[in-house]
Parts: sequence; structure tokens; C-alpha cells
Amino acid sequence: MKVTVFGIGYVGLVQAAVLAEVGHDVICVDIDQNKVDNLKRGIIPIYEPGLEPIVRENSQTGRLQFTTDAAEGIAHGTLQFIAVGTPPDEDGSADLQYVLAVAETIATHMNDRKIIVNKSTVPVGTADKVSSKIAEVLKTRGVELEFSVASNPEFLKEGAAVNDCMRPDRIVVGTDSLDHENNYVVETMKELYAPFNRNHDRMIFMDVRSAELTKYAANCMLATKISFMNEMAGLAERLGADIEMVRQGIGSDPRIGFHFIYPGCGYGGSCFPKDVQALKRTAEEIDFEPLMLKAVEERNAQQKHVLFSKISAHFNGQLEGKTVALWGLAFKPNTNDMRDAPSRVLMEALWQAGAKVQAFDPEAMEEAQRIYGLRDDLTLSGTPQVALKGADALVICTEWRQFRAPDFEQIAELLKEQVIFDGRNMYEPERMKKKGFAYYAIGR
Ligand code: UDX
Repeated sequence: MKVTVFGIGYVGLVQAAVLAEVGHDVICVDIDQNKVDNLKRGIIPIYEPGLEPIVRENSQTGRLQFTTDAAEGIAHGTLQFIAVGTPPDEDGSADLQYVLAVAETIATHMNDRKIIVNKSTVPVGTADKVSSKIAEVLKTRGVELEFSVASNPEFLKEGAAVNDCMRPDRIVVGTDSLDHENNYVVETMKELYAPFNRNHDRMIFMDVRSAELTKYAANCMLATKISFMNEMAGLAERLGADIEMVRQGIGSDPRIGFHFIYPGCGYGGSCFPKDVQALKRTAEEIDFEPLMLKAVEERNAQQKHVLFSKISAHFNGQLEGKTVALWGLAFKPNTNDMRDAPSRVLMEALWQAGAKVQAFDPEAMEEAQRIYGLRDDLTLSGTPQVALKGADALVICTEWRQFRAPDFEQIAELLKEQVIFDGRNMYEPERMKKKGFAYYAIGR
């Protein structure tokens, strides 16, 4: 099938590459000439396991193309995916200007029947806005063309995006023309996703608004699980309990489950913070008080300060002139993404208090450089060991695999003081004590 994808960000690029990989004929459109030029040469803008080879191979076969020419893209696809960003507005609501601009472009150039598919995470009601925009432009053009707008939210996780896209748990499609016999949208979407829908049916069709809300509900539910566990961790610490025991104790109840109940130094990334905030705004706009969402957000904001509070307490508030070794800058392992990362809140608080940071991350060093530039109080170290050298303490913000079993003797030698603040509960407190470390974890 012929598919056009607008927006070569994270979601757009992964979706396009995976569709091309199973044999569809895909053109990606982006306004960023530099990005398009790089992709044509096989240089991809993000770090995502498994993505580069499928982008490269499918570009070579011509099944995956990149262009800045919107008209060319629109002429190509029966399906027009919109996967551009929806950054938060000043008030936290999702900014739809890019989505609506693409809708307008599609309407300006389309000359046959199209299905416009919203892939971006957009507030409930956006598909209606996209529809109105297209209808309005077609009317001014004086042409009558059939079109449909569907919502098809993505559920991919960074670091596992290609796999999530190749083997989805579910494929949610919202369309408002469900009751028609031999529905065109339903049939087209089924054909598009047939390669990913084998063995058992993963496709869930529903109305557009429910599909739009499904995306937010999923992310907000997951964020809620984390904030809940972080609250329990705070309680456990103060009550002399061990949250890791509590986690195992509750996770074994299948109604609760083991997934996504890891306490830590707060959730980050491009989705949870933004989506919780955006759904909260949506609720407020219709005068429905989002009690849970507010609590989830507040708990997370506080959680991102927990490590700093522990560090500050350990050093009796005297952080001026101290040097902190920081392992892990990315908001989670297997990505170079530092959007809303807990490490940032920590570093900024440390700098504010007059401390210096020597940081190491396996993938996010360039990103840190890009965000913070050159500054005296940030050293980006080439290895975890270099980061430790002469530091007063080690802090862990991201649970990269290579931090799981470090050489503790070496750590003790390189640090000035044997103290570790672990934001991801990577080590056993008893063992750390025996090794002579002052060890601070979350909730234990
Ligand atoms: C998330 C959703 O998982 C995905 O389905 C959606 O499409 C986009 O948002 P992502 O942002 O890539 O994906 O990251 P995820 O792996 O979900 O982790 C989010 C944050 O939660 C990370 O900062 C992680 O460290 C934190 N987290 C996760 C915890 O603190 N505890 C947990 O138990 C799980």
C-alpha cells in the first residue's frame, strides 16, 4: 500500500520504517531539509536499537523515501499519517498548530480520496478539528473530494520502539464511520496492519474520541502506577519498611502485576510528563477536576527532588565546592533522550547549591552537551571511572545495564568518600553496608 508519513520525529520515523519493512511503499515528509538530507544518506537523528538497519535497507530498496516536498508526498499515499509533534503550550495543553498545519497542507494538495490518520498524541476532539480544517480548505479550493480522518495512537516505548511497532499488543483505530457495511476506513486499516496482526486479532476499532482518550488513559495509568509506588517508597522509608519487599509482595497479585511498579527518582521522557499535564488541562477546560492526575504530577515533581534532598542531608547542607559523580543522564536506559529526565532536576539543584557534576552516560553525552553547553560545573566524562575520580559521592539516575555489577573496590578507591545515592535501587543495601559504603536508595 502507498503510505505518506508527515513528521520524521520519533514516532513518524519508526512507524514509517516498520511499514516499509513489511513491504509498504512509504514516503516521509518533513520541513527540516537537514534532517531529510541526513536520512537520505542513512544518518538517523535518534538512537533507537534496530532502527538504523531497517531505515538503511528500506531506503536502498526505495520502499522508504524522504522528502521536503509536501505535494509529492500527498500525491503518493492513500493513507496520510500525521506524526508531527504536539509540544505543550505554556499552560500545559497540547499545541496543535503543527497537526493543523499538516491538515491544511494535505487539503491544499490532495486530488483524490484520502484517509488522514492521526498518529500524534492529540487531545480528544482533535480529529474533528482536522476534519473541519480539511473541509474548509477543500471548500475554498472549490473541489469536492471524499476524505476520512482516523485516530491511530502509538504505544511504543523508547529503546524498544521497533519491536513494539513490529509486535504490537494492540492496534487501536478510531473512526467515526464504523457502522457502514464494508467500511472503507476499517478495511484499509486492516489491510495496512495485516502483517502485524497475525495469529490473533490485535485490532480494536472504536469511535475517534475513545481512541484519542485511550492513548492518554494508557500513559496516565502507567504514570499513576509509578507515582503510587514512589509515594509508597516515601512511606516505607519513614516507617522502616523496605519498598523492594513490598513491591514483590504486591506484584505477585495478578490483579496488580509486576510491571511498572518500580519506585525510583521520578518518571521522565517525552510522554508521561506531557500527557499527564495535557489530560489534566483537558479536564480543567471542561470544569472537571482531575484529582488523580494532579496528585500523580505533584508526586512526580517531588520525587525528582528526593535524591537531592538525600545528598544535601548527608552533607549537612554543605554542597558548595563538592563534586558529585553522576551515572546516567538519559530518562531511562537504552535511549539518549533527556527530555524531563530526573538527572536534569538533580544537576540543576546541585549547581544551584554550588556543587560540581562529573557525569557519565553510555548514550546521552552529546545530548547533555547540546542542552547545557560548556560550563565549569559540568564535566562529561568518557567512562564511569573517570566520572568517579575525586568525586565526593556517586549518584545513579538511570539503571543502565553496565551499572548493575560495577567494581565496588574501584569505586571506593576513586571516590573521596564511600557514599552512593542510588535513584534506581540497583544494589542490595546489606551488601553495600558490608562493603563499607554509606548507601542511600529509594524507599528502603
Ligand atoms: C511511555 C509508554 O511506556 C509508551 O507505551 C508510550 O507510548 C510512550 O510513553 P517511554 O516514554 O518510552 O514510553 O518510557 P517508559 O519505558 O514507559 O518509561 C517512562 C518513565 O517511567 C521512565 O523515566 C522510567 O524510568 C520510569 N519508570 C518506569 C519508573 O520509574 N518505574 C517503573 O516501574 C517504570
